[in-house]
Amino acid sequence: MAITATSPSGVVPAPVDLGPAAALSCRECGARFPLGPSFACPECFGPLEIAYDFGSEGAEELRKRIESGPASIWRYAPLLPVPADVASKPNLNPGWTPLVTADNLGRELGFTARLHVKDDSGNPTHSFKDRVVACAIEAARAFGYTTLSCSSTGNLAGAVGAAAARAGFRSCVFIPHDLEQGKVVMAGVYGGELVGIEGNYDDVNRFCSELIGDPAGEGWGFVNVNLRPYYGEGSKTLAYEICEQLGWRLPEQIVIPIASGSQLTKIDKGLQELIGLGLVEDRPYRIFGAQAEGCSPVSAAFKAGRDVIKPVKPDTIAKSLAIGNPADGPYVLDIARRTGGAVEDVTDAEVVAAIGLLARTEGIFAETAGGVTIGVLKKLVETGQLDPAKETVAINTGDGLKTLDAVSDAGMTAVIRPTLESFRDAGLVSA
Ligand SMILES: Cc1ncc(COP(=O)(O)O)c(C=O)c1O
Ligand SMILES: [Zn+2]
Repeated sequence: MAITATSPSGVVPAPVDLGPAAALSCRECGARFPLGPSFACPECFGPLEIAYDFGSEGAEELRKRIESGPASIWRYAPLLPVPADVASKPNLNPGWTPLVTADNLGRELGFTARLHVKDDSGNPTHSFKDRVVACAIEAARAFGYTTLSCSSTGNLAGAVGAAAARAGFRSCVFIPHDLEQGKVVMAGVYGGELVGIEGNYDDVNRFCSELIGDPAGEGWGFVNVNLRPYYGEGSKTLAYEICEQLGWRLPEQIVIPIASGSQLTKIDKGLQELIGLGLVEDRPYRIFGAQAEGCSPVSAAFKAGRDVIKPVKPDTIAKSLAIGNPADGPYVLDIARRTGGAVEDVTDAEVVAAIGLLARTEGIFAETAGGVTIGVLKKLVETGQLDPAKETVAINTGDGLKTLDAVSDAGMTAVIRPTLESFRDAGLVSA
């Protein structure tokens, strides 16, 4: 669909083609606006999100079209704010990552129903952020931006750097100066500008919002600020893939890590869309959010029965989740409560133990965010909040190679001389 986009910031590009995206709509007051690089409702300051016109194609036809599509998020192009020919443009083609049946882990945690790990560490820059950036970059193209930017806790910076390099954009990304070396290298290697800010993520985000309002940032596409409505839609593909990989079925429970809370809210949106389109049968599902104790403002609000999120100063090894003032926090609370889920948190020691547990049982090496998710999954079962007799999916959003320091105790179990005698003496002979 060709739409002329307008924007409160004054950028008025040529007609844009963002597929089934029909308008921006305010999550709070429902007001609708033309597609454009704007993210807050001019009437009530609520967040804007994409409203669609999915047309009248039947569920069977749509399901076939998706199944015959590419093995990437672009198989879901008919449900995303992207042009129909998106897969032919230069991009990293993220997604279609494995849904691993985690029987060993399930057994250890006392599951009687199937437990799965959606392993998104297999994306091109080894985190789920490739999904959101791939959608944001289509909006950047449509609105005529040539510089791609973001505020990031590390993974997003790498995803933007890589996607910009492939698509021929300049990139300039902003991170807290004290991130893990693995994330810094992954963000820097693609050749864009990588700026460390002396402060935490919330300081970085504040700085980026200032930059957008200043001539210095004129014409820049910040994937998670002025392109946020488009960016967020990329996370829906996690919901689509999980259901398709389950044979077009909703899981009964999903555990999702929270930083800004965007991923969790968009997974819920994706599930609702699948139900609305008749691609899956409607039945109850429960959504659980996972935080690290050292940055758990959403979990604290959930446990206290509050609707308001009190910002915190993060102090945790799970740096990719270290957002003290999460933009989508209140929506996460709504979703957890509406679906009969919960938001829980674990200590850094539990995060490290959970990374080891997942690696030992399923051969999946998660970054600290994945440790938070698996640690919270375990705690939710132990405290009776999550039902081990219901089919459950836990999402591993990032690769452990980026946060090696968290598990620096792992390593060689023996050092021997290169002789059979030494091997025998070390007690390594097969049983
Ligand atoms: C590995 C990883 N998992 C989860 C998240 C949480 O994402 P969101 O901000 O959408 O809640 C992030 C955010 O940076 C991340 O890097
Ligand atoms: Zn509004």
